[in-house]
Amino acid sequence: MKKFHVAYGVFHEDTSMALTLKEKQSLIDLANAARERAYVPYSNYPVGAALRTRSGKIYTGVNVENAAYPQTMCAERVAIFKAVSEGEKEFEVISVVTNNGGSPCGGCRQVMAEFGLETIVLMADGSGNLVKEMRVKELLPEAFTPDQLRK
Ligand code: THU
Repeated sequence: MKKFHVAYGVFHEDTSMALTLKEKQSLIDLANAARERAYVPYSNYPVGAALRTRSGKIYTGVNVENAAYPQTMCAERVAIFKAVSEGEKEFEVISVVTNNGGSPCGGCRQVMAEFGLETIVLMADGSGNLVKEMRVKELLPEAFTPDQLRK
């Protein structure tokens, strides 16, 4: 990531703005393909996610349900935890695909916020159409972040 030194500190270039339509579509397609591997015997609502790190690696995730319902894990968190467990903590963009273009749950927004409020979230439907595009800071205003524990 490029850094610029400006009057008030260091400005990190927002590389996500440079995402091309093709790059977005490819992340959506990866998440949509991953949905086939979702384990959803209870809700029958498959969710797929594809997370791209600043280093360019891509981690996919699907929701994994459980007979003890609360033990279910969302697709977004599977993708994020896969990345973190491989040593990646800087995320540029995450795509989330559901049948109807649904948006990430509150718990997933909080987990996204842990790693950066600027991450772009692409929400797409089962036909691969981009329905909404927002940053984490817009999806979760006034987020509780690691900074608040340091103050
Ligand atoms: N789900 C996700 O995977 N991500 C979300 O952000 C919302 C909900 C899953 C959990 C459950 O398996 C199913 O969707 C219905 O709630």
